[in-house]
Amino acid sequence: MTDRYAVVGHPISHSQSPRIHAAFAVQTGQDLSYTALLAPLDGFTQTVDDFRAAGGKGVNVTVPFKPDAWHYAERHGERAARAEAVNTLVLDRDRVYGDNTDGPGLLRDLTVNQGCTLQGQRIVVIGAGGAAAGVLAELLATQPAAIMVANRTASKATELAARFSDLGSVSGCGLADLAGERFDLLINATAASLDNQCPALPAGMIHSGSGAYDLMYAAHPTPFMRWAQAEGAAWIRDGLGMLVEQAAESFALWRGIRPETRSVLRHLRSRLTH
Ligand code: ATR
Repeated sequence: MTDRYAVVGHPISHSQSPRIHAAFAVQTGQDLSYTALLAPLDGFTQTVDDFRAAGGKGVNVTVPFKPDAWHYAERHGERAARAEAVNTLVLDRDRVYGDNTDGPGLLRDLTVNQGCTLQGQRIVVIGAGGAAAGVLAELLATQPAAIMVANRTASKATELAARFSDLGSVSGCGLADLAGERFDLLINATAASLDNQCPALPAGMIHSGSGAYDLMYAAHPTPFMRWAQAEGAAWIRDGLGMLVEQAAESFALWRGIRPETRSVLRHLRSRLTH
């Protein structure tokens, strides 16, 4: 019988995950189906319970349910436990296992696909919501010189940084406090791109070797990417590569085999821009 997987979110119709996992399944010769499930805003648990009862073996979880999925899981991977957010549930175990593959996905896209070195670098993570929480541990593990978490609401950045401070040099501040600071890597983990906006960032944070990465992706460069380019960034990149890489990590958790990602990313990019 074909093994069943799904992505659960609200909204969900825009999700690229079914396309990505279908490509992985063909490539690795795995017999599985992968669909998109729209859960009511107050109905995450019921939706996953029903899917599991019908034989579902695993789900990916997207906005806004990653904290719900963290509650749903009975056992957690270290990253998910710390982020208090789960994007991958393994359902076919005695106790439901939850992990978060967003951090490894970002790291792989930055280091392997973009060829970036993070050790010793000064990094700013803009935003202090679930997206930022999901990637901080992985970034700190690369031993950057320092990470600043900067957020429109400064107190949330300070709180988030404090939760991760045992893992390395990380501090929190407001967006205006970034004036006078310079960074090798700027990561936009806010939801501003969804509203076609750029966070209100001070000028002068970028030098000629800096890179700018938006966790969101779009057919065209996001306002944050355009801002970084205008400030003189050496490179800009959106989160499509992270999306494919986190999917590959989830696939590996479920199936024990990590698919090749480069061709899938190339295919998605050309679909998005044409
Ligand atoms: P997610 O799980 O995607 O991170 P979230 O938890 O709602 O979503 O967090 C959204 C983040 O984007 C927050 O850091 C938010 O800043 P506030 O904490 O001040 O609300 C940030 N954000 C959203 N729109 C923004 C904008 N236009 N400019 C700057 N930051 C923005």
